[in-house]
Amino acid sequence: MGDNVLHTPLCDMLGIRYPILQAGMGGNAIRGLVSNPELAAAVSEAGGLGVLGGAPISVEEFSHLVRVLKSLTNKPFGVNLVFPGGDAIVGGSPEVLSAKIPQDYKDFAHGILGEMKVEEAEKKLEPPHLYLTREVSMKKLEIVLEEKVPVLVYSLGDPGAETIDAAHQAGITVMALAGNVRQAVRLKAEGVDALVAVGYEAGGHSGYIGSMALVPQVVDAVKPLPVLAGGGISDGRGLVAALALGAEGAWVGTRFMTSEESATVPWMKKLALEAGDTSTVKSKFISGKPNRHLRSPWDDAWEETAKKPLPIPLQGLLFWDYFTSITQAEAFEVSGETMGQGVGLIDSIKPAKQIVEDMVAKAIQVYGEMGGRFI
Ligand SMILES: Cc1cc2nc3c(=O)[nH]c(=O)nc-3n(C[C@H](O)[C@H](O)[C@H](O)COP(=O)(O)O)c2cc1C
Repeated sequence: MGDNVLHTPLCDMLGIRYPILQAGMGGNAIRGLVSNPELAAAVSEAGGLGVLGGAPISVEEFSHLVRVLKSLTNKPFGVNLVFPGGDAIVGGSPEVLSAKIPQDYKDFAHGILGEMKVEEAEKKLEPPHLYLTREVSMKKLEIVLEEKVPVLVYSLGDPGAETIDAAHQAGITVMALAGNVRQAVRLKAEGVDALVAVGYEAGGHSGYIGSMALVPQVVDAVKPLPVLAGGGISDGRGLVAALALGAEGAWVGTRFMTSEESATVPWMKKLALEAGDTSTVKSKFISGKPNRHLRSPWDDAWEETAKKPLPIPLQGLLFWDYFTSITQAEAFEVSGETMGQGVGLIDSIKPAKQIVEDMVAKAIQVYGEMGGRFI
C-alpha cells in the first residue's frame, strides 16, 4: 500500500504530498519562536505544510522571517496571524496598557509570586502581547500580500471579507481556525478556502468542544469546504482518526514543538517529554481567551477568585510578569507553558522530517490493519 492512501483533495489544493499541516505557533523572548522558519521549511520539505508562527512578533521581524523562510524552501508554506476583535483592547505602549489593568488585579498577581516566594523579575523583557493586536496583524498582512505567501492561516477573530478577497486576488490560499460550528459557518461565509476545527485537547487557544465531536459537526456544517482536524494529534493514529471523522488533514502543534528544528528553549521541550495526559489545563487566565497549557499555581490562584479574566492583551501582560519572574528563578515546572493534551504521547525530540515520516508510516500501518480488527 503506497502513501497515496493519505492523499486528500486538500493536498492538491495546497500543493503538498501529505495532509499534515504544522500548526502556526508563536513564541516570546524567553520561550523562543516555536514555529520558526527552520521548522516550517523542514515540514514543507518533508511533504507537509510548514507554518510560520507570525503572531506575537513585530512587523519588522515578521517581514524578515518570511524572507528567511522563502530562502529555505521552494515548497508551499504558510504564516499564522491573529485578529482579535470583540472585547480586545487596542494596542499601546506597555505603560499605556499597564495603566488599564485594575490595581486589585495587579495586587492579586503580585501576591501569587509572593506566596511562591519568587522574586519579581527586575528586567522586564518586551511582552509579546503588544503585537497581538488587529492593527499589527493588518500591517503584517500587507507583507503577506507583497511576498505572495502561499497560505495564510488566521485565528482569534478575522480580518474581514474584503481582506480575504485581496488575498485571493494575490493567489493566496486562506484558512482559519474554528472552535465551534457557529464560528466555522461564519468563517465560511467570509470566504475562507479551508477550515481547521480545533478541539478542546489542543495546545494554545481553542474552544471547549472535543475534537471527536467537533470535527464531524464542522465537516457537515461547511460542506464541501475542506476541513482539517486540530488538537491532540501527535502520531499517525490521530491522523487516521481525523480522516475517519471527515477531515482532509491534520493540524499538528505540540508534536512539532518538540522537534529538533523548533527554536523552543530546551527546558520547554523537556517539560513536554515529562508531561502526561493530566498535566495541562484550559483556562482564560493566561491570555483572556481559553488557552491550554501546563497547570501552574497561577491557574489555581485565579480559579479561586471571583475575578474575571481581563481582555486581550491585558490578562497576558499580567501573566507575563509571572512568567518572566518564574523563568528567571528557573522554576520552569510551574511556568504554565503552552502545550496540548496530546503531549502525553510524546517521548522524544526528533527532526521534523522524521515526525512527518513516522506519522505517515504509522497512519498507513493503522489504516491497513483496521479491517482485521473487526469480526
Ligand atoms: C506552543 C504553542 C504555541 C501556539 N501558538 C499559536 C499561535 O501563535 N497562533 C495560533 O493560531 N495558534 C497557536 N497555537 C495553537 C496551534 O495553532 C494549534 O491549534 C494546536 O497546537 C493544535 O493542537 P495540538 O497542540 O494538540 O497539536 C499554539 C500551540 C502551541 C502548542
